[in-house]
Amino acid sequence: MKTIYDLVEFTKVVAVFCNQWGDTGKGKIVDLLAEWADIIARGTGGNNAGHTMVINGKKYIFHLIPSGILRDSMGKINIIGNGVAFNPAVVQEEIRILLSEDMTVNNLMIALNAHLVLPQHLVMDRVRESNLGDNKIGTTGKGIGPLYTDHYTRVGLTVNDMLNKDVFVRKLRRNLVDKIRLLSFADPEMVKLVMQHHELKNGDYYHPRKIFDIDSIVETYAKYGEYFKPMIRDADAYIRKHLGSKNILLEGAQGLHLSIDYGIHPGVTSSDSSVEGLAKGVGLKERDIDLALGIVKFPYMTRVGEGVFPTEFGGKESSVWCRDSNQKRESEELSSAGVNDKNEFRRGVAIRQVGQEFGATTGRLRRTGRLDLPLLRFALQISGPNAVLTKADIMDECDKIEICTHYIYQGPDYQYGNYTVKKGEKILVAPQDTNILKNCKAVYEMFPGWKCSISDARTMNDLPQELKDIIEYVEKTVGMETKIVSIGPDRGETIIV
Ligand code: GDP
Ligand code: IMO
Ligand code: MG
Repeated sequence: MKTIYDLVEFTKVVAVFCNQWGDTGKGKIVDLLAEWADIIARGTGGNNAGHTMVINGKKYIFHLIPSGILRDSMGKINIIGNGVAFNPAVVQEEIRILLSEDMTVNNLMIALNAHLVLPQHLVMDRVRESNLGDNKIGTTGKGIGPLYTDHYTRVGLTVNDMLNKDVFVRKLRRNLVDKIRLLSFADPEMVKLVMQHHELKNGDYYHPRKIFDIDSIVETYAKYGEYFKPMIRDADAYIRKHLGSKNILLEGAQGLHLSIDYGIHPGVTSSDSSVEGLAKGVGLKERDIDLALGIVKFPYMTRVGEGVFPTEFGGKESSVWCRDSNQKRESEELSSAGVNDKNEFRRGVAIRQVGQEFGATTGRLRRTGRLDLPLLRFALQISGPNAVLTKADIMDECDKIEICTHYIYQGPDYQYGNYTVKKGEKILVAPQDTNILKNCKAVYEMFPGWKCSISDARTMNDLPQELKDIIEYVEKTVGMETKIVSIGPDRGETIIV
Protein backbone atom coordinates (compact mmCIF):
# COMPACT_ATOMS: atom_id res chain seq x y z
CA MET A 1 0.00 0.00 0.00
CA LYS A 2 1.45 3.37 -1.00
CA THR A 3 1.52 6.34 1.37
CA ILE A 4 1.59 10.08 0.79
CA TYR A 5 5.38 9.91 1.16
CA ASP A 6 5.58 7.82 -2.02
CA LEU A 7 3.56 10.49 -3.79
CA VAL A 8 5.61 13.48 -2.65
CA GLU A 9 9.04 11.85 -2.95
CA PHE A 10 11.53 14.33 -4.45
CA THR A 11 9.09 17.24 -4.17
CA LYS A 12 9.44 20.39 -2.10
CA VAL A 13 6.36 22.34 -3.20
CA VAL A 14 2.98 20.65 -3.69
CA ALA A 15 -0.19 22.48 -4.72
CA VAL A 16 -3.73 21.23 -4.12
CA PHE A 17 -6.50 23.01 -6.01
CA CYS A 18 -9.83 22.27 -7.67
CA ASN A 19 -10.33 21.62 -11.36
CA GLN A 20 -14.11 22.09 -11.22
CA TRP A 21 -16.49 24.52 -9.46
CA GLY A 22 -15.14 24.19 -5.92
CA ASP A 23 -16.18 21.98 -2.99
CA THR A 24 -14.31 18.97 -4.30
CA GLY A 25 -12.51 18.09 -1.06
CA LYS A 26 -9.50 20.44 -0.92
CA GLY A 27 -9.76 20.56 2.88
CA LYS A 28 -9.53 16.78 3.17
CA ILE A 29 -6.58 16.43 0.79
CA VAL A 30 -4.64 19.35 2.28
CA ASP A 31 -5.15 18.02 5.80
CA LEU A 32 -3.85 14.65 4.61
CA LEU A 33 -0.73 16.05 2.92
CA ALA A 34 -0.11 18.43 5.84
CA GLU A 35 1.51 15.46 7.60
CA TRP A 36 4.39 15.85 5.12
CA ALA A 37 4.41 19.66 4.97
CA ASP A 38 6.30 22.14 7.15
CA ILE A 39 4.39 25.12 5.74
CA ILE A 40 0.76 25.16 4.57
CA ALA A 41 -0.38 28.29 2.74
CA ARG A 42 -3.63 29.62 1.29
CA GLY A 43 -3.18 32.02 -1.63
CA THR A 44 -6.57 32.92 -3.08
CA GLY A 45 -10.17 33.74 -2.22
CA GLY A 46 -11.57 34.62 1.16
CA ASN A 47 -14.23 33.24 3.44
CA ASN A 48 -16.37 32.49 0.41
CA ALA A 49 -14.45 29.21 0.74
CA GLY A 50 -15.49 26.48 3.13
CA HIS A 51 -12.99 23.65 3.54
CA THR A 52 -13.97 20.55 5.50
CA MET A 53 -11.79 18.04 7.33
CA VAL A 54 -13.06 14.95 9.07
CA ILE A 55 -10.76 13.47 11.71
CA ASN A 56 -11.96 10.29 13.38
CA GLY A 57 -15.52 11.21 12.54
CA LYS A 58 -15.28 14.78 13.87
CA LYS A 59 -15.89 17.53 11.35
CA TYR A 60 -14.00 20.83 11.15
CA ILE A 61 -14.84 23.54 8.62
CA PHE A 62 -12.48 26.44 7.98
CA HIS A 63 -13.08 29.41 5.73
CA LEU A 64 -9.80 31.29 5.95
CA ILE A 65 -7.36 29.48 8.20
CA PRO A 66 -5.44 26.88 6.14
CA SER A 67 -6.39 23.23 6.54
CA GLY A 68 -3.00 22.43 8.07
CA ILE A 69 -3.99 24.17 11.29
CA LEU A 70 -4.91 20.94 13.08
CA ARG A 71 -1.17 20.17 13.04
CA ASP A 72 -0.17 23.54 14.55
CA SER A 73 0.98 21.92 17.79
CA MET A 74 3.60 20.00 15.79
CA GLY A 75 5.17 23.34 14.83
CA LYS A 76 3.78 23.45 11.31
CA ILE A 77 3.44 26.98 9.93
CA ASN A 78 0.07 27.93 8.44
CA ILE A 79 0.03 31.02 6.25
CA ILE A 80 -2.76 33.23 4.95
CA GLY A 81 -1.05 34.52 1.83
CA ASN A 82 -0.95 37.83 -0.01
CA GLY A 83 -3.67 36.89 -2.49
CA VAL A 84 -6.27 36.18 0.16
CA ALA A 85 -9.25 38.37 1.07
CA PHE A 86 -8.63 38.57 4.81
CA ASN A 87 -11.67 39.14 6.99
CA PRO A 88 -10.37 39.68 10.55
CA ALA A 89 -13.70 38.92 12.22
CA VAL A 90 -13.83 35.50 10.58
CA VAL A 91 -10.26 34.54 11.42
CA GLN A 92 -10.65 35.72 15.00
CA GLU A 93 -13.72 33.50 15.33
CA GLU A 94 -11.93 30.52 13.77
CA ILE A 95 -9.09 30.96 16.26
CA ARG A 96 -11.58 31.20 19.13
CA ILE A 97 -13.20 27.93 18.10
CA LEU A 98 -9.86 26.15 17.76
CA LEU A 99 -8.72 27.32 21.19
CA SER A 100 -12.06 26.37 22.76
CA GLU A 101 -11.46 22.83 21.49
CA ASP A 102 -8.01 22.70 23.08
CA MET A 103 -6.19 23.07 19.78
CA THR A 104 -3.24 25.44 19.49
CA VAL A 105 -2.80 28.39 17.13
CA ASN A 106 0.84 29.31 17.75
CA ASN A 107 2.16 29.28 14.22
CA LEU A 108 -0.40 31.12 12.12
CA MET A 109 1.13 33.78 9.89
CA ILE A 110 -0.80 36.42 7.99
CA ALA A 111 0.78 38.10 4.98
CA LEU A 112 1.12 41.82 5.63
CA ASN A 113 0.06 42.47 2.03
CA ALA A 114 -3.09 40.30 2.11
CA HIS A 115 -6.22 42.21 1.04
CA LEU A 116 -8.25 43.60 3.94
CA VAL A 117 -12.00 42.93 3.88
CA LEU A 118 -13.94 45.93 5.23
CA PRO A 119 -17.64 46.31 6.08
CA GLN A 120 -18.31 48.23 2.86
CA HIS A 121 -17.26 45.18 0.80
CA LEU A 122 -19.97 43.04 2.36
CA VAL A 123 -22.52 45.83 1.96
CA MET A 124 -21.68 46.43 -1.72
CA ASP A 125 -21.73 42.69 -2.48
CA ARG A 126 -25.17 42.24 -0.93
CA VAL A 127 -26.76 45.41 -2.30
CA ARG A 128 -25.44 44.70 -5.79
CA GLU A 129 -26.75 41.12 -5.76
CA SER A 130 -30.17 42.18 -4.54
CA ASN A 131 -30.36 44.74 -7.37
CA LEU A 132 -29.48 42.20 -10.05
CA GLY A 133 -32.73 40.22 -9.87
CA ASP A 134 -32.61 37.32 -12.37
CA ASN A 135 -29.06 38.24 -13.37
CA LYS A 136 -27.59 37.72 -9.93
CA ILE A 137 -24.43 35.62 -9.63
CA GLY A 138 -25.41 33.95 -6.40
CA THR A 139 -22.32 35.18 -4.56
CA THR A 140 -21.65 34.12 -1.01
CA GLY A 141 -22.14 37.71 0.16
CA LYS A 142 -18.71 37.83 1.79
CA GLY A 143 -17.60 40.97 -0.04
CA ILE A 144 -15.23 39.18 -2.41
CA GLY A 145 -16.09 40.98 -5.68
CA PRO A 146 -15.97 44.50 -4.21
CA LEU A 147 -12.76 43.70 -2.34
CA TYR A 148 -10.79 42.60 -5.40
CA THR A 149 -12.35 45.45 -7.42
CA ASP A 150 -10.80 47.85 -4.92
CA HIS A 151 -7.42 46.21 -5.43
CA TYR A 152 -7.58 46.73 -9.19
CA THR A 153 -8.95 50.24 -8.90
CA ARG A 154 -6.11 51.01 -6.50
CA VAL A 155 -8.18 51.92 -3.46
CA GLY A 156 -7.79 48.68 -1.48
CA LEU A 157 -6.37 48.36 2.03
CA THR A 158 -3.95 45.70 3.19
CA VAL A 159 -3.66 43.81 6.44
CA ASN A 160 -0.63 45.95 7.31
CA ASP A 161 -2.79 49.08 7.21
CA MET A 162 -4.45 47.89 10.42
CA LEU A 163 -1.11 48.50 12.16
CA ASN A 164 -0.84 52.19 11.18
CA LYS A 165 -3.88 54.16 12.25
CA ASP A 166 -3.20 57.33 10.25
CA VAL A 167 -2.67 55.40 7.06
CA PHE A 168 -5.75 53.29 7.77
CA VAL A 169 -8.00 56.32 8.27
CA ARG A 170 -6.71 58.09 5.16
CA LYS A 171 -7.09 55.02 2.95
CA LEU A 172 -10.46 54.15 4.47
CA ARG A 173 -11.86 57.60 3.70
CA ARG A 174 -10.62 57.42 0.14
CA ASN A 175 -11.99 53.90 -0.25
CA LEU A 176 -15.45 54.92 0.92
CA VAL A 177 -15.96 57.86 -1.43
CA ASP A 178 -17.29 55.95 -4.45
CA LYS A 179 -19.23 53.49 -2.33
CA ILE A 180 -21.12 56.19 -0.46
CA ARG A 181 -21.94 57.85 -3.76
CA LEU A 182 -23.28 54.60 -5.24
CA LEU A 183 -25.21 53.65 -2.13
CA SER A 184 -26.86 57.08 -2.03
CA PHE A 185 -28.81 55.94 -5.12
CA ALA A 186 -29.99 52.73 -3.42
CA ASP A 187 -33.12 52.29 -1.33
CA PRO A 188 -32.02 53.63 2.11
CA GLU A 189 -34.19 51.12 3.97
CA MET A 190 -32.59 48.24 2.09
CA VAL A 191 -29.09 49.55 2.85
CA LYS A 192 -30.00 49.95 6.51
CA LEU A 193 -31.40 46.41 6.59
CA VAL A 194 -28.30 44.93 4.95
CA MET A 195 -26.14 46.66 7.53
CA GLN A 196 -28.05 45.14 10.45
CA HIS A 197 -26.63 41.71 9.59
CA HIS A 198 -24.58 40.02 12.30
CA GLU A 199 -21.60 39.77 9.93
CA LEU A 200 -21.75 43.58 9.89
CA LYS A 201 -21.77 43.78 13.68
CA ASN A 202 -25.58 44.10 13.83
CA GLY A 203 -25.62 47.67 12.53
CA ASP A 204 -22.57 49.00 14.43
CA TYR A 205 -21.03 50.31 11.22
CA TYR A 206 -24.25 52.04 10.12
CA HIS A 207 -24.66 55.81 10.21
CA PRO A 208 -28.15 57.15 9.43
CA ARG A 209 -26.83 60.15 7.46
CA LYS A 210 -23.37 59.16 6.24
CA ILE A 211 -24.24 55.46 5.68
CA PHE A 212 -20.92 54.31 7.19
CA ASP A 213 -19.85 55.18 10.71
CA ILE A 214 -16.15 55.73 10.09
CA ASP A 215 -15.27 56.02 13.77
CA SER A 216 -16.81 52.65 14.45
CA ILE A 217 -14.87 51.00 11.60
CA VAL A 218 -11.60 52.64 12.70
CA GLU A 219 -12.07 51.60 16.31
CA THR A 220 -12.95 47.99 15.46
CA TYR A 221 -10.10 47.56 13.00
CA ALA A 222 -7.59 49.12 15.41
CA LYS A 223 -8.55 46.37 17.85
CA TYR A 224 -8.14 43.74 15.15
CA GLY A 225 -4.73 45.26 14.41
CA GLU A 226 -3.66 44.82 18.02
CA TYR A 227 -4.99 41.27 18.11
CA PHE A 228 -3.35 40.14 14.86
CA LYS A 229 -0.08 42.10 15.20
CA PRO A 230 1.99 39.11 16.40
CA MET A 231 0.84 37.10 13.36
CA ILE A 232 1.30 39.73 10.63
CA ARG A 233 4.56 39.17 8.76
CA ASP A 234 6.22 39.44 5.37
CA ALA A 235 5.00 35.97 4.47
CA ASP A 236 6.13 36.21 0.82
CA ALA A 237 9.72 36.68 1.96
CA TYR A 238 9.33 33.88 4.52
CA ILE A 239 8.12 31.39 1.91
CA ARG A 240 10.74 32.38 -0.63
CA LYS A 241 13.45 32.05 2.01
CA HIS A 242 12.41 28.47 2.70
CA LEU A 243 11.89 27.46 -0.90
CA GLY A 244 13.91 24.32 -1.54
CA SER A 245 14.56 23.56 2.12
CA LYS A 246 11.17 23.22 3.83
CA ASN A 247 8.21 21.22 2.50
CA ILE A 248 5.60 23.68 1.28
CA LEU A 249 1.96 22.80 0.64
CA LEU A 250 -0.29 25.27 -1.19
CA GLU A 251 -4.03 25.15 -0.57
CA GLY A 252 -6.24 26.44 -3.36
CA ALA A 253 -9.72 27.85 -2.90
CA GLN A 254 -12.76 27.77 -5.20
CA GLY A 255 -12.10 25.99 -8.52
CA LEU A 256 -10.73 26.52 -12.01
CA HIS A 257 -14.13 27.19 -13.60
CA LEU A 258 -14.72 29.89 -10.97
CA SER A 259 -11.42 31.65 -11.70
CA ILE A 260 -11.69 35.28 -12.73
CA ASP A 261 -9.11 34.56 -15.44
CA TYR A 262 -10.03 31.04 -16.60
CA GLY A 263 -13.62 30.65 -15.45
CA ILE A 264 -16.87 31.06 -17.32
CA HIS A 265 -18.09 34.63 -16.81
CA PRO A 266 -20.17 35.99 -15.21
CA GLY A 267 -20.59 32.98 -12.88
CA VAL A 268 -17.12 33.27 -11.40
CA THR A 269 -15.48 34.56 -8.26
CA SER A 270 -13.13 37.55 -8.34
CA SER A 271 -9.73 35.98 -7.75
CA ASP A 272 -7.67 33.63 -9.89
CA SER A 273 -8.34 30.20 -8.39
CA SER A 274 -6.07 28.45 -10.89
CA VAL A 275 -2.77 26.92 -9.83
CA GLU A 276 -1.01 30.00 -11.22
CA GLY A 277 -3.12 32.31 -9.07
CA LEU A 278 -2.44 30.11 -6.09
CA ALA A 279 1.35 30.27 -6.53
CA LYS A 280 1.28 34.04 -6.94
CA GLY A 281 -0.98 34.42 -3.92
CA VAL A 282 1.72 33.00 -1.65
CA GLY A 283 4.62 34.84 -3.24
CA LEU A 284 5.79 32.00 -5.52
CA LYS A 285 5.83 31.31 -9.26
CA GLU A 286 4.02 28.42 -10.89
CA ARG A 287 7.42 27.00 -11.89
CA ASP A 288 8.27 26.64 -8.18
CA ILE A 289 5.59 23.94 -7.86
CA ASP A 290 6.91 20.38 -8.14
CA LEU A 291 3.58 18.59 -7.97
CA ALA A 292 0.28 20.22 -8.98
CA LEU A 293 -2.70 18.14 -7.85
CA GLY A 294 -6.01 19.18 -9.37
CA ILE A 295 -9.06 17.75 -7.61
CA VAL A 296 -11.91 16.32 -9.65
CA LYS A 297 -15.13 15.19 -8.00
CA PHE A 298 -15.64 11.86 -9.72
CA PRO A 299 -17.73 10.65 -11.48
CA TYR A 300 -20.21 13.45 -10.78
CA MET A 301 -19.96 17.21 -10.38
CA THR A 302 -21.48 20.00 -8.34
CA ARG A 303 -21.78 23.75 -8.52
CA VAL A 304 -23.27 26.23 -6.07
CA GLY A 305 -24.68 29.58 -7.18
CA GLU A 306 -25.88 30.67 -10.60
CA GLY A 307 -24.26 30.00 -13.97
CA VAL A 308 -24.10 27.47 -16.82
CA PHE A 309 -23.92 23.78 -15.98
CA PRO A 310 -24.38 21.70 -19.17
CA THR A 311 -24.58 18.31 -17.43
CA GLU A 312 -26.85 19.28 -14.53
CA PHE A 313 -29.29 16.54 -13.52
CA GLY A 314 -32.65 18.01 -14.40
CA GLY A 315 -31.26 21.16 -16.09
CA LYS A 316 -33.29 24.28 -15.43
CA GLU A 317 -35.67 22.52 -13.04
CA SER A 318 -32.69 21.73 -10.84
CA SER A 319 -31.06 25.16 -11.01
CA VAL A 320 -34.32 26.90 -10.11
CA TRP A 321 -35.00 24.42 -7.30
CA CYS A 322 -31.52 24.86 -5.86
CA ARG A 323 -31.85 28.63 -6.04
CA ASP A 324 -35.28 28.85 -4.45
CA SER A 325 -35.32 25.93 -2.05
CA ASN A 326 -33.32 24.84 0.98
CA GLN A 327 -32.15 21.69 2.73
CA LYS A 328 -35.15 21.46 5.05
CA ARG A 329 -37.73 21.87 2.30
CA GLU A 330 -35.92 19.37 0.10
CA SER A 331 -35.84 16.73 2.83
CA GLU A 332 -39.56 17.29 3.47
CA GLU A 333 -40.72 17.27 -0.15
CA LEU A 334 -38.25 15.04 -1.98
CA SER A 335 -37.04 12.49 0.55
CA SER A 336 -38.28 9.63 -1.67
CA ALA A 337 -35.93 10.54 -4.55
CA GLY A 338 -33.44 7.78 -5.38
CA VAL A 339 -30.13 7.65 -7.22
CA ASN A 340 -31.69 5.27 -9.78
CA ASP A 341 -34.89 7.25 -10.22
CA LYS A 342 -36.11 7.41 -13.85
CA ASN A 343 -36.50 11.17 -13.50
CA GLU A 344 -33.09 12.82 -13.76
CA PHE A 345 -33.98 15.80 -11.55
CA ARG A 346 -34.84 13.37 -8.76
CA ARG A 347 -31.60 11.44 -9.39
CA GLY A 348 -29.75 14.71 -8.87
CA VAL A 349 -31.65 15.37 -5.65
CA ALA A 350 -30.75 11.90 -4.37
CA ILE A 351 -27.04 12.34 -5.20
CA ARG A 352 -27.12 15.67 -3.33
CA GLN A 353 -28.61 13.86 -0.31
CA VAL A 354 -26.15 10.96 -0.38
CA GLY A 355 -23.19 13.28 -1.01
CA GLN A 356 -24.40 15.83 1.56
CA GLU A 357 -23.89 18.45 -1.12
CA PHE A 358 -24.86 21.53 0.85
CA GLY A 359 -22.62 24.62 0.87
CA ALA A 360 -20.07 24.57 3.71
CA THR A 361 -20.21 28.38 3.75
CA THR A 362 -23.82 29.25 2.95
CA GLY A 363 -25.74 26.00 3.48
CA ARG A 364 -27.19 26.36 -0.04
CA LEU A 365 -28.13 23.33 -2.12
CA ARG A 366 -25.27 22.42 -4.45
CA ARG A 367 -26.51 21.66 -7.96
CA THR A 368 -25.49 18.17 -9.10
CA GLY A 369 -24.59 16.86 -12.55
CA ARG A 370 -22.65 14.26 -14.49
CA LEU A 371 -18.89 14.44 -14.97
CA ASP A 372 -18.27 16.76 -17.91
CA LEU A 373 -15.25 15.82 -20.04
CA PRO A 374 -15.31 18.95 -22.27
CA LEU A 375 -14.89 21.04 -19.11
CA LEU A 376 -12.26 18.66 -17.75
CA ARG A 377 -10.27 18.81 -20.99
CA PHE A 378 -10.16 22.58 -20.68
CA ALA A 379 -9.19 22.38 -17.00
CA LEU A 380 -6.31 20.00 -17.66
CA GLN A 381 -4.95 22.27 -20.40
CA ILE A 382 -4.51 24.95 -17.75
CA SER A 383 -3.67 22.85 -14.70
CA GLY A 384 -1.72 19.88 -16.01
CA PRO A 385 -2.71 16.21 -15.90
CA ASN A 386 -2.36 15.17 -12.23
CA ALA A 387 -5.68 14.39 -10.61
CA VAL A 388 -7.11 13.62 -7.21
CA LEU A 389 -10.48 11.92 -7.63
CA THR A 390 -12.89 12.44 -4.74
CA LYS A 391 -16.30 11.17 -3.63
CA ALA A 392 -16.74 8.17 -5.95
CA ASP A 393 -18.28 6.44 -2.89
CA ILE A 394 -21.34 8.68 -3.32
CA MET A 395 -22.19 6.76 -6.50
CA ASP A 396 -21.95 3.31 -4.87
CA GLU A 397 -25.64 2.55 -5.38
CA CYS A 398 -26.00 3.83 -8.95
CA ASP A 399 -27.06 1.27 -11.57
CA LYS A 400 -25.43 3.28 -14.31
CA ILE A 401 -22.93 6.09 -14.55
CA GLU A 402 -23.31 8.71 -17.27
CA ILE A 403 -20.21 10.59 -18.44
CA CYS A 404 -20.49 13.54 -20.82
CA THR A 405 -18.03 12.93 -23.67
CA HIS A 406 -18.85 16.00 -25.80
CA TYR A 407 -21.50 18.60 -26.56
CA ILE A 408 -23.62 19.30 -29.60
CA TYR A 409 -24.12 23.02 -30.16
CA GLN A 410 -27.78 23.86 -30.66
CA GLY A 411 -27.89 27.64 -30.70
CA PRO A 412 -27.88 30.25 -33.46
CA ASP A 413 -24.69 31.00 -35.42
CA TYR A 414 -22.19 32.49 -33.00
CA GLN A 415 -18.97 34.26 -33.89
CA TYR A 416 -16.08 33.01 -31.74
CA GLY A 417 -13.05 34.95 -32.89
CA ASN A 418 -12.50 34.13 -36.55
CA TYR A 419 -14.67 31.03 -36.26
CA THR A 420 -18.43 30.67 -36.59
CA VAL A 421 -19.97 28.08 -34.28
CA LYS A 422 -22.92 26.48 -36.07
CA LYS A 423 -25.88 24.41 -35.00
CA GLY A 424 -25.13 20.68 -34.86
CA GLU A 425 -21.41 21.21 -34.25
CA LYS A 426 -19.60 18.74 -32.00
CA ILE A 427 -17.60 20.38 -29.20
CA LEU A 428 -14.91 18.42 -27.35
CA VAL A 429 -13.23 21.16 -25.31
CA ALA A 430 -15.52 23.56 -23.46
CA PRO A 431 -15.01 27.15 -24.60
CA GLN A 432 -15.07 29.61 -21.71
CA ASP A 433 -18.06 31.41 -23.15
CA THR A 434 -21.49 31.33 -21.55
CA ASN A 435 -23.19 32.15 -24.88
CA ILE A 436 -21.91 28.89 -26.34
CA LEU A 437 -22.22 26.72 -23.27
CA LYS A 438 -25.81 27.68 -22.52
CA ASN A 439 -26.75 26.34 -25.99
CA CYS A 440 -24.85 23.07 -25.71
CA LYS A 441 -26.54 19.71 -25.35
CA ALA A 442 -24.42 17.21 -23.45
CA VAL A 443 -23.92 13.76 -25.00
CA TYR A 444 -23.35 10.86 -22.61
CA GLU A 445 -21.53 7.56 -22.63
CA MET A 446 -23.13 5.05 -20.29
CA PHE A 447 -21.15 2.80 -17.92
CA PRO A 448 -22.42 0.12 -15.54
CA GLY A 449 -22.29 1.08 -11.84
CA TRP A 450 -20.26 -0.97 -9.33
CA LYS A 451 -23.10 -1.42 -6.83
CA CYS A 452 -21.03 -2.04 -3.72
CA SER A 453 -19.41 -0.05 -0.96
CA ILE A 454 -15.88 1.14 -1.77
CA SER A 455 -14.92 3.05 1.36
CA ASP A 456 -12.82 0.19 2.74
CA ALA A 457 -10.59 0.09 -0.34
CA ARG A 458 -6.97 1.06 0.36
CA THR A 459 -5.32 0.15 -2.95
CA MET A 460 -6.48 0.45 -6.55
CA ASN A 461 -6.79 -3.34 -6.63
CA ASP A 462 -9.45 -3.16 -3.94
CA LEU A 463 -11.68 -1.03 -6.18
CA PRO A 464 -14.38 -2.73 -8.25
CA GLN A 465 -13.52 -3.30 -11.91
CA GLU A 466 -16.45 -1.13 -13.08
CA LEU A 467 -14.99 1.93 -11.30
CA LYS A 468 -11.45 1.20 -12.48
CA ASP A 469 -12.79 0.97 -16.04
CA ILE A 470 -14.41 4.40 -15.76
CA ILE A 471 -11.22 5.92 -14.33
CA GLU A 472 -9.16 4.35 -17.11
CA TYR A 473 -11.61 5.53 -19.76
CA VAL A 474 -11.45 9.13 -18.52
CA GLU A 475 -7.66 9.04 -18.14
CA LYS A 476 -7.28 7.89 -21.73
CA THR A 477 -9.93 10.18 -23.18
CA VAL A 478 -8.72 13.43 -21.62
CA GLY A 479 -5.09 12.71 -20.71
CA MET A 480 -5.61 12.69 -16.95
CA GLU A 481 -3.20 10.95 -14.54
CA THR A 482 -4.76 9.81 -11.28
CA LYS A 483 -2.54 10.24 -8.20
CA ILE A 484 -5.03 9.89 -5.35
CA VAL A 485 -8.52 8.38 -5.09
CA SER A 486 -10.57 9.52 -2.10
CA ILE A 487 -13.40 7.21 -1.12
CA GLY A 488 -14.70 8.79 2.08
CA PRO A 489 -14.36 12.03 4.07
CA ASP A 490 -11.98 10.67 6.73
CA ARG A 491 -8.17 10.90 6.48
CA GLY A 492 -7.80 7.15 6.17
CA GLU A 493 -10.37 6.74 3.41
CA THR A 494 -7.81 7.42 0.73
CA ILE A 495 -5.91 5.48 -1.92
CA ILE A 496 -2.50 6.71 -3.06
CA VAL A 497 -2.18 5.39 -6.60
P1 GDP B 1 -13.54 22.01 -0.43
O1 GDP B 1 -14.19 23.35 -0.46
O2 GDP B 1 -12.94 21.64 -1.74
O3 GDP B 1 -12.57 21.85 0.70
O4 GDP B 1 -14.70 20.96 -0.19
P2 GDP B 1 -15.89 21.09 0.90
O5 GDP B 1 -15.33 20.85 2.24
O6 GDP B 1 -16.66 22.33 0.68
O7 GDP B 1 -16.83 19.90 0.43
C1 GDP B 1 -16.37 18.60 0.28
C2 GDP B 1 -17.19 17.68 1.19
O8 GDP B 1 -16.96 16.34 0.82
C3 GDP B 1 -16.80 17.77 2.65
O9 GDP B 1 -17.94 17.56 3.43
C4 GDP B 1 -15.81 16.62 2.83
O10 GDP B 1 -15.78 16.13 4.16
C5 GDP B 1 -16.40 15.61 1.90
N1 GDP B 1 -15.44 14.68 1.26
C6 GDP B 1 -14.19 14.92 0.78
N2 GDP B 1 -13.71 13.83 0.14
C7 GDP B 1 -14.68 12.89 0.22
C8 GDP B 1 -14.80 11.56 -0.30
O11 GDP B 1 -13.94 11.03 -0.98
N3 GDP B 1 -15.98 10.91 -0.03
C9 GDP B 1 -16.99 11.48 0.69
N4 GDP B 1 -18.09 10.77 0.90
N5 GDP B 1 -16.91 12.72 1.18
C10 GDP B 1 -15.77 13.43 0.92
P1 IMO C 1 -14.42 26.43 -1.90
O1 IMO C 1 -13.00 26.91 -1.66
C1 IMO C 1 -17.97 26.67 -4.37
C2 IMO C 1 -19.07 30.61 -5.93
C3 IMO C 1 -20.33 31.23 -5.38
C4 IMO C 1 -20.80 32.03 -6.59
C5 IMO C 1 -19.49 32.53 -7.19
C6 IMO C 1 -19.13 33.95 -6.81
O2 IMO C 1 -15.13 26.00 -0.67
O3 IMO C 1 -14.42 25.39 -2.97
P2 IMO C 1 -18.24 35.03 -4.53
O4 IMO C 1 -18.84 35.07 -3.17
O5 IMO C 1 -16.91 34.37 -4.58
O6 IMO C 1 -18.23 36.36 -5.21
O7 IMO C 1 -19.27 34.12 -5.40
O8 IMO C 1 -18.48 31.64 -6.73
N1 IMO C 1 -18.07 30.21 -4.91
C7 IMO C 1 -17.85 28.94 -4.55
N2 IMO C 1 -18.46 27.79 -4.91
N3 IMO C 1 -16.92 26.63 -3.52
C8 IMO C 1 -16.28 27.75 -3.16
O9 IMO C 1 -15.17 27.75 -2.41
C9 IMO C 1 -16.77 28.99 -3.66
N4 IMO C 1 -16.39 30.28 -3.49
C10 IMO C 1 -17.19 31.01 -4.28
O10 IMO C 1 -21.26 30.26 -5.00
O11 IMO C 1 -21.39 31.18 -7.52
MG1 MG D 1 -16.01 24.26 0.00
